[in-house]
Amino acid sequence: MLRVCDAALVPGDAGLKVDMVGVGPVAVFRYADAYYVTNDRCTHGGASLSEGRIIGDEVECPFHMGAFNFRTGAVTARPCIRPLKTYPVTVIDGVIFITMPTGTPSGRHAT
Ligand code: FES
Repeated sequence: MLRVCDAALVPGDAGLKVDMVGVGPVAVFRYADAYYVTNDRCTHGGASLSEGRIIGDEVECPFHMGAFNFRTGAVTARPCIRPLKTYPVTVIDGVIFITMPTGTPSGRHAT
């Protein structure tokens, strides 16, 4: 697992951008007392989704108003077409961790 951040840092009404070595920028979201981690970069045009508007369990991209469900990565509004990458999350003692798929550079070194 890779440490992302303290859960207390994640606001309830916005995403939190975290630059992770070996992974890149991720966006952390809180919804219904659970935490979700996705790639921060919008699959449409590269906007930072942590700067997007939160609507329930969706994030609206600040560039062209496309949207994703941050729990599943599914596209919920065009012009986005490609889904957003999501990461399995574990919270231990108030710290958020993600699990990388095996075979990825960061996954190989996961502990
Ligand atoms: S960059 Fe996100 S919708 Fe265009």
